[in-house]
Amino acid sequence: MAHTQKKVRKAVFPVGGLGTRFLPATKAQPKEMLPVVDKPLIQYAVEEAQAAGIEEFIFVTGRGKTAIEDHFDISFELKDQLASRGKDEANAAMETWLPGPGQVSFTRQQRPLGLGHAVWCARALVGNEPFAVVLADDLMLSDVAPLKQMVEAYEHTGGNLLAVERVPRALSSRYGILDVAEQHGNLVRARGIVEKPKPEAAPSDLAVIGRYILVPEVFDVLSHQGQGAGGEIQLTDALQAMMRNHPLHGILCDGTRYDCGDKAGFVLANVAFALRRNDIHDDLRARLRHIVDN
Ligand code: G1P
Repeated sequence: MAHTQKKVRKAVFPVGGLGTRFLPATKAQPKEMLPVVDKPLIQYAVEEAQAAGIEEFIFVTGRGKTAIEDHFDISFELKDQLASRGKDEANAAMETWLPGPGQVSFTRQQRPLGLGHAVWCARALVGNEPFAVVLADDLMLSDVAPLKQMVEAYEHTGGNLLAVERVPRALSSRYGILDVAEQHGNLVRARGIVEKPKPEAAPSDLAVIGRYILVPEVFDVLSHQGQGAGGEIQLTDALQAMMRNHPLHGILCDGTRYDCGDKAGFVLANVAFALRRNDIHDDLRARLRHIVDN
């Protein structure tokens, strides 16, 4: 199977969510545009995909998300202004990460029916090849992009591959949880997966974090998928339904995940990413100490 595997060239970014947990910040802007230090969450997600060799970026959006579309376009006014002020470095930095013309596409989910439904909305743009799904809420701090680690592992696993991490069982009802058949190093073969189980029903402590590589057959399954946990069309349920024909693996990627769908996680991500930045590290460290000690 591995030798017939097609390259993973496309990534889907579901960005239709309302972001009610971050009101009022998200009243008039998408939650995916919230910055960690000075970069919007969605740009981190796209840069991670670029580091993994992704060439096409598919956004599944909703109403009130046009700022994302603008962010992935050239801003001529800003370019001119920066140029006239001699800010060449800032000008260049604005574009190094920008995907080229035709590499970005947008489709609308229309109704918030769940993650499985959001992914299904991308079916025509993905076509018949394996593809990645990246949830911008799960921000990864790592030396090697987690999606790159996954793309490399995918050459051996094929099928459906998910990033996982160990979580306290008490938190299992926030995640998709794997039922583990066997583990080799950082790779786990699953014999099942369940969405948001109660702690006592959780088959393991391995939780899915927002990175997936999926076979295109998932679209057929999703088109028939009924409502699952929380009354939503769940991607997890489709993966469970596919297990007979498509192996399901989890990979424990190197790196730290920050849950930016959660207020404390988002603040923590800002601190962690800022401390990695040479331009602000020393000053910030000293001032954080001062806050913590007083
Ligand atoms: C989604 C998935 C869940 C996964 C999680 C990771 O849930 O349904 O399986 O563990 O993302 O962040 P959500 O956070 O959208 O409720």
